[in-house]
Amino acid sequence: MKRGATIVAMGLFSFLALAGLIACKDEKAGLPEPSVAGEPAEGETAMDIQKRPFGRTPDGTDIEVYALTTDKGLKARVMTYGATLVSLEVPDGAGRTDDIVLGYDALDGYMKSSPYFGSIVGRYGNRIAKGRFALDGVAYQLATNNGENHLHGGIKGFDKVVWKAEPMREAGAVGVKFGYVSKDDEEGYPGNLAVTVIYSLTNDNELKISYEATADKATPVNLTHHSYFNLAGGGDVLGHELTIYADAYTPVDAGLIPTGEIRLVADSPFDFTTPHSIGERIARVEGGYDHNFVLRSGGGMMALAVRVFEPQSGRIMEISTTEPGLQFYSGNFLDGTISGKGGKVYNKHYGFCLETQHFPDSPNKPDFPSTILRPGAVYKSLTVHRFLTR
Ligand code: GLA
Repeated sequence: MKRGATIVAMGLFSFLALAGLIACKDEKAGLPEPSVAGEPAEGETAMDIQKRPFGRTPDGTDIEVYALTTDKGLKARVMTYGATLVSLEVPDGAGRTDDIVLGYDALDGYMKSSPYFGSIVGRYGNRIAKGRFALDGVAYQLATNNGENHLHGGIKGFDKVVWKAEPMREAGAVGVKFGYVSKDDEEGYPGNLAVTVIYSLTNDNELKISYEATADKATPVNLTHHSYFNLAGGGDVLGHELTIYADAYTPVDAGLIPTGEIRLVADSPFDFTTPHSIGERIARVEGGYDHNFVLRSGGGMMALAVRVFEPQSGRIMEISTTEPGLQFYSGNFLDGTISGKGGKVYNKHYGFCLETQHFPDSPNKPDFPSTILRPGAVYKSLTVHRFLTR
């Protein structure tokens, strides 16, 4: 664990330790607690957390959704199924608010067919070739669920399990702390893994996602968040302009497994070191963008990874992270078969993902930064999405 990440994580710990007051309205119990936030000024909303039912799984587990609101009008809903971000409402420069993430109106859609809409992905985000790796001389075979490869944690990854949830509140921020214990051999991974993910919204117009995990056997861990963004609130995303703070990326084979090469982005459609729209050069990228960018920061400390500008709404999203990599996926597999929120049809490129991560297939690539978590160590990762307008 690099020092910067540890310091960031320690700061977060003290934030949690100080968060003495948890105000949560439990609508089911019918006992709303009075909000401790001051009365909102005109045009503002009050910082708030509300817990509501969001349906039931076929095995009878109740799923809850937490609605978070900041004084500045940022709103998010996160649910216990998949620790999923269900909606994210962000004001634009003209005071109009749009939900800028793809998803469904109800639990059913998420359970039946979701390409990881808004979920937490793990135990290992992205691909591990043939689902195989060797660790300390032992060969492991993971579940394969993407052709011959392992993708996003396997057949039943962290996006398809029910998490425990606890609301959190402190000055200037509201959040939900999710917990899940992944069992030894789950999807073929070694060791029990205890995971905590905290989503929080701040009055600085930020959505923060912080991750922690500990294991009782050495195991690969690579957690990420899989929202499909559309800062215009609908339509295709080809006009969004990206700046990615990466001078290199990891080229892939036909199965989207990195070849091991770290290739410079200069003079290629992968060069987003200055702003370019997603659509400008996408025709030159076979299949569209679905690549891991090697962030300039090298990871281990908070650094700006990507800046997105959507010209119609004027919305800007900046993502900072302690991770060394960023998977930019341009929604290539969306094909119009999904009708999402409000019956909107999600065609190709109607959303894009920016997944902060370690590089795909790291357990088989000794030259990539290691993803192995050992007993006694703590996995820590932090990603912050900041919203601005122009
Ligand atoms: C990630 C992968 C893509 C695809 C999506 C989910 O972004 O890199 O190849 O699997 O998730 O559809």
